[in-house]
Amino acid sequence: MDSVQLGELDSTAGRRELVDPFGRAITYLRVSVTDRCDFRCVYCMAENMSFLPKADVLRLEELDRLCSAFVARGVRKLRLTGGEPLVRRGIMTLVASLSRHLHSGQLDELTLTTNGSQLAKYAEAIKAAGVRRINVSLDTLDAGKFRAITRWGALDQVLAGIDAAQAVGLKIKINAVALKGVNEDELPRLIEWAHGRGMDLTLIEVMPLGEIGEGRLDQYLPLSMVRARLAERFSLEDIDYRTGGPARYVRVAETGGKLGFITPMTHNFCESCNRVRVTCTGTLFMCLGQDDAADLRKPLRASEADDLLLAAIDEAIGRKPKGHDFIIDRRHRRPALARHMSVTGG
Ligand SMILES: C[S@@+](CC[C@H](N)C(=O)[O-])C[C@H]1O[C@@H](n2cnc3c(N)ncnc32)[C@H](O)[C@@H]1O
Ligand code: SF4
Repeated sequence: MDSVQLGELDSTAGRRELVDPFGRAITYLRVSVTDRCDFRCVYCMAENMSFLPKADVLRLEELDRLCSAFVARGVRKLRLTGGEPLVRRGIMTLVASLSRHLHSGQLDELTLTTNGSQLAKYAEAIKAAGVRRINVSLDTLDAGKFRAITRWGALDQVLAGIDAAQAVGLKIKINAVALKGVNEDELPRLIEWAHGRGMDLTLIEVMPLGEIGEGRLDQYLPLSMVRARLAERFSLEDIDYRTGGPARYVRVAETGGKLGFITPMTHNFCESCNRVRVTCTGTLFMCLGQDDAADLRKPLRASEADDLLLAAIDEAIGRKPKGHDFIIDRRHRRPALARHMSVTGG
């Protein structure tokens, strides 16, 4: 069973901050702690996904060391994602261990993105570890549609998870992928529901990641269109609010809540990119939309000290690209990138 030794993995080697060739300081790390999931969302995975062999996946203490190396290099915000982070065995030991960086003041925020299925079980422990807010992905409030989208998920379980998280005082942002012909008519209801419960909502455009066995074009719904339609029903006021992510926010006058739009396909957000992603095998992706990557597992496992790891991180950030070039291949109906979102965690 994985376990994490508290405290002993901190790196003291070097406090140099990570700045990429375009002057962007890298202060936000998203870590996919597992490629596995208890759902099979249609836009994310094929139903018969094959998962990584266990030996390839970093142990919890290795993930801790990796995250801590980035924190030592100036990362201020850490998001655990997946796959589904809360199905990783022993995950709460990692969350609890990483929280030492919150206590030391080196980290501003420790958070996670979850499908909510295990939240009822873990909400209290997550809150106790110093996590203040989390993202929960939920595309519909219709139980039948929820089952159709997630294939294996149960809406009730996720709603119970959201209840539990709010009950312990965790702030929640709901993420919903806008899906043509599936939840597009339901979005006003989703907004009213989320805002009515004090949760912001962010809409996400489907991104062409990974082979999923269905045509992307069938799912793709441009958020420019969604926004235009919502504007007929609600008063949307542009606001400056940023969460360090790519979402652009509006205030919905009727509900008083915030609504975000993540539009990788129709709007380029790369110029303000402050983030990188690590997979559960220790592969560092400098850009969600590019294939270039650096293997951090090898330097991590090569030595107990962090020097090799830190050098590999520095070298990789030195080649972070300026931006992505997502494009749905309309002629061949192929994804722009072969890897799935569950690999890099969104
Ligand atoms: C890959 S999931 C990982 C965390 C967790 N399992 C969850 O669903 O929140 C992170 C986010 O990516 C989104 N996502 C997955 N595949 C996507 C795709 N092809 N395009 C856009 N968003 C996607 C999901 O809806 C979710 O909000
Ligand atoms: S979006 Fe999240 S919940 Fe859905 S299959 Fe992907 S990793 Fe699992």
